[in-house]
Amino acid sequence: MRVLGIETSCDETGVAIYDSEAGLLAHALHSQVELHAAYGGVVPELASRDHVRKVLPLIRQLFDDAGIEAGSLGGIAYTAGPGLVGALMVGAAVGRSLAWSWGLPAVAVHHMEGHLLAPMLEARPPEFPFVAMLVSGGHTQLVEVTDIGHYRLLGDSLDDAAGEAFDKTAKLLGLPYPGGPELAKLAQSGDPSRYRFPRPMTDRPGLDFSFSGLKTFALNTLTEAKEKEGQALSHQTMADIARAFEDAVVDTLKIKCRRAVRETGIKTLIMAGGVSANRRLRQQVSEMMEKEGGEAFYPRPEFCTDNGAMIAFAGCQRLQAGLAEPLGIKVSPRWSMETLAF
Ligand code: KG4
Ligand code: ZN
Repeated sequence: MRVLGIETSCDETGVAIYDSEAGLLAHALHSQVELHAAYGGVVPELASRDHVRKVLPLIRQLFDDAGIEAGSLGGIAYTAGPGLVGALMVGAAVGRSLAWSWGLPAVAVHHMEGHLLAPMLEARPPEFPFVAMLVSGGHTQLVEVTDIGHYRLLGDSLDDAAGEAFDKTAKLLGLPYPGGPELAKLAQSGDPSRYRFPRPMTDRPGLDFSFSGLKTFALNTLTEAKEKEGQALSHQTMADIARAFEDAVVDTLKIKCRRAVRETGIKTLIMAGGVSANRRLRQQVSEMMEKEGGEAFYPRPEFCTDNGAMIAFAGCQRLQAGLAEPLGIKVSPRWSMETLAF
């Protein structure tokens, strides 16, 4: 079965065609980074309007790149939540309308299920069961995955998600949006021994996360450094703070992943979502899993952040299982992944 996937939940317009026999045929992405950069973060109304402008030209380009006709499709999948409601509505309306006009079934896909299944697009996919560490701009979740659609939430963020903490701390450091990758770049020249940030909630049992305190810790560290060095901090001091922050997030995620793997007895771990593009995180978690006698799997970096390929893949699994919804256009800005069993 061949499926067109459409992702418009936040600030990327992503489209892709996945074929259950041949794999990923083509994917295309338009990032809105430049559009939102001047505001230091995503402006929801601008995001929706840009999705409206970009989604159909991107789909046309996708068919050209794949060298296929719409007639060969077996269905359409679109992200229906969680996300920004106006942005979600664009993908849902386009997906359902194309499905209606082409006489195809359409299926609503959960954005985090898309991220969770993204490692399965790779040449050597992980096998079930696995523990999934989802780290994006809006979510930090540990999930036990026994099969597609069978998800048990093991841990969740109590406040800021990991990506959100990266973005807010990057802003404090005066780095441009989107902060996560910029902070990671700055941290590369940082000295890991100069500052030490706490590893929140690792000293007590449980698999939940709390990252908002790290942002405050970064602010206090910055303020103290400015008292010593003056308002214009040296590049080295900024890099040292970035490194200490990154090490704290990476270490905390690693500790919780190890705990989840030990508690469930599952030796396969996957990491997905924007923050899983972080090089230090991937390296640390892979080493940890090796020591545990297991293995960690990730999507390629471009499929860690939002993309259409993961939605086409997740939608294809659901459509092949016979799932599709009536024509009403419905999105869910808040949506629990534990309701997804089929
Ligand atoms: O999955 P994603 O593209 O969108 C959401 O579903 O939220 O994740 C975006 C998040 C942002 O917070 C971004 O700063 C973060 O992922 N991110 C990174 C890196 N690349 C993206 N954080 C740390 N290091 C990176 N290399
Ligand atoms: Zn995402």
